[in-house]
Amino acid sequence: MNAKKLAGEKALEYVKDGMVLGLGTGSTVYWTILGLGELVIKGLNIKGVATSKATEDLALKAGIPLVDISDVYEIDVTIDGADEVNPDLDLIKGGGGALLREKMVASVSRKLVIVADESKYSAHLGKFPLPVEVVPFGWQTTMKQISAKGCEPKLRMKNGIPMPTDNGNYILDCPFDKIEYPAALAFSLNMMPGVVETGLFVKMADTVILAGTSGEIQVKE
Ligand code: A5P
Repeated sequence: MNAKKLAGEKALEYVKDGMVLGLGTGSTVYWTILGLGELVIKGLNIKGVATSKATEDLALKAGIPLVDISDVYEIDVTIDGADEVNPDLDLIKGGGGALLREKMVASVSRKLVIVADESKYSAHLGKFPLPVEVVPFGWQTTMKQISAKGCEPKLRMKNGIPMPTDNGNYILDCPFDKIEYPAALAFSLNMMPGVVETGLFVKMADTVILAGTSGEIQVKE
C-alpha cells in the first residue's frame, strides 16, 4: 500500500466547511491536496494558503481557491509533511526546500497536522540532515559558523548551481546525526545573522499521522 497516500488522505478528516487551510509541500501532502480538490468539486467551501510555488501550482490545478498569507488573520488547520518526527512531535522539515514558508504558515495556524509514512518516525532527530535556509551573501561564512555547532554542512545544489529557494536564498543541509536538544539548537542557529530559518519545528505540531505500507495508521497527539 502507498503509505504516503494513506497518511495524506487521512488528514482530510480534520477539514471542515468554511476553513482556511495551510497547504504544505511534498509528496505526502500531495495526496491531501488532491483529495481536497475532489471535495471542492463536490461543494466544500475552503480557502488554501500555499507554502511553496509547487504547492500553489498543484492546488490551483486541483481547483482549490487560494489566498495570500497576508490576507488572513489566522489559519484554521495546516496540513504538511515532515522528514523526521520524534516522540515529542518535534520535526525536521525542509527536504523539499520549503521550510521558511512552511514555518511561517504553521506559526499562524491554530492546528498543525503532519502527514508522513512511518519511516519518518525516529527516537532522535538528526538522522535526516537538517536543512537551514541562509542568505546567499557570505554563505560560506555562515556555513563555518554552523559547522562550529558540530556538523559538516553541504550546500544544496540543483543542475550544477546552488538551489535557490522560493525566497531566493540557499539551503545548507546539516548532518548533526543526533540532535539531543532541538530547541537549543534551533535557537542558536537562528541567532546567526546569515541564517534565515531552520527546518527544526519544535513544539509546533499538534497531530502527527503516520501510515505504514501494510495499511495501519497511527495518530499521535
Ligand atoms: C518541504 O520542504 C518539506 O518540509 C516536506 O514537507 C518534507 O520534506 C516532507 O516531504 P515528503 O512528504 O515528500 O516526504
